[in-house]
Order: sequence, then C-alpha cells, then structure tokens
Amino acid sequence: MKGLFITFEGTEGSGKSTQISLLADRLRASGRTVRTLREPGGTPIGEEIRHTLKHSKDNAAMTAEAELLLMNASRTQLVREVIRPALASGEIVLCDRFYDSTTAYQGYGRGLDLKIVQAMIDFAVGETRPDLTLFLNISPKVSEARRRSRQSTLPLLRDRMEEADRHFFERVATGYQLIAAANPQRVKLIDATTDVEAVSAAIWKEASPLLGH
Ligand code: TMP
Repeated sequence: MKGLFITFEGTEGSGKSTQISLLADRLRASGRTVRTLREPGGTPIGEEIRHTLKHSKDNAAMTAEAELLLMNASRTQLVREVIRPALASGEIVLCDRFYDSTTAYQGYGRGLDLKIVQAMIDFAVGETRPDLTLFLNISPKVSEARRRSRQSTLPLLRDRMEEADRHFFERVATGYQLIAAANPQRVKLIDATTDVEAVSAAIWKEASPLLGH
C-alpha cells in the first residue's frame, strides 16, 4: 500500500494535536499503520534542537537566521531518518507542522527573505512533499486567548517562540492565509473555531478521498 504524508498547520491553539490524534485513531481503526510526528522534533537530534529553539535557558539571543537554520536542521533529520522510510513502507505519516510553518513564522513572521527561506526548505526536504496539508484556521484573537490560557496553566515551561509580540503572530496568521491561497490543491482550509467533532469531520472529508475511503 502506498504511503501518505499529511501535515497539519495553524497558529498556536488551533487544536492540531487533538485533531492529529483523532485522525490517527480513525485511520488505525481502519487498519492502516500511522505514524504521528511533530516539528521541530520527532528524532533524538530534532528533539534536542527543539529544546534549543524553545525551552533552553540560554536561547534568548537567538537570531532569526539561526532559528531558520535550526528549524530546517531538525526537519532534514526527520525527513531522512523517519518520514522517507515510513512512507516507503506504506505508512501514513501525520506531522504536526512542516515547512509551511517555516514560511509563516520565519518568512512572514520574522521577516526573512522569502526566497532564502524557500531555498533552505528545498535543501532540507528535497523531493519529500506533503500529499495534503490541513490548515486549521482560527483568528489571531482566538489564537492569542488560547496561547495565554496555555501559558497560565504551564508557567514553568518557558517557550521562546511564544514570547514574540502580537504583531509577529498577526504576520504569521497573514502568512498562513497567503500560503493557503497560493497552494489551493495541497493546502485545505479547515474552520477550527467550531467544536472538536465538527473539525474532525471536516478533516475526514479532506483526507478520506486520498485513502480510497
Ligand atoms: P508547537 O510544537 O507547540 O507548535 O511549537 C513549535 C513552535 O515552533 C511554534 O511556535 C511554531 C514554531 N515553528 C517555527 O517557527 N518554524 C517552523 O518551521 C516550525 C516547524 C515551528
């Protein structure tokens, strides 16, 4: 059976992890082998890079350029160590964020040159591209409210990425809209402001045709 690569995108609080586990359960129940991954991370090297990017107490001085390279270092490891072998053996790979996050956060958010961002992504992933990207769409206001409530429940786990200001997250949100508009075949917009079951049903509607269901 042919492998399938599905990525999930969206701003903080869009409900990606809940939806990934619901889709994974549904696919496993139908007999498919499913691998769930996250970026940055997903390999031992990638998880160390994730710590450096997000939680390390020594990461405050990180430049946008270093951030771009580290995101792609984690990604290239994940692609070669995990995603390609999984797809080659017919698995369904569900990834929490992939290269659209880099375009949205480092490109639109941090303001790095989009051509350079794209070149780094192309180098990191080569031919490995998602078959489908589910963009869980919520407004920047809803995202900010959910981010704040998460921060208040996890006060000990500092996250450098979440320390950016509101304008940064607005640019990221705009970036995602532009990415979705530019890639209508691959990127499917899912209204993630509705309840969990409705979002899950909308995701199944997009994913199931690719599975022969
Ligand atoms: P999350 O796993 O909680 O979504 O955290 C990942 C953070 O890293 C999130 O703030 C988005 C950010 N990110 C980027 O800025 N660029 C990227 O390429 C990826 C994969 C994530």
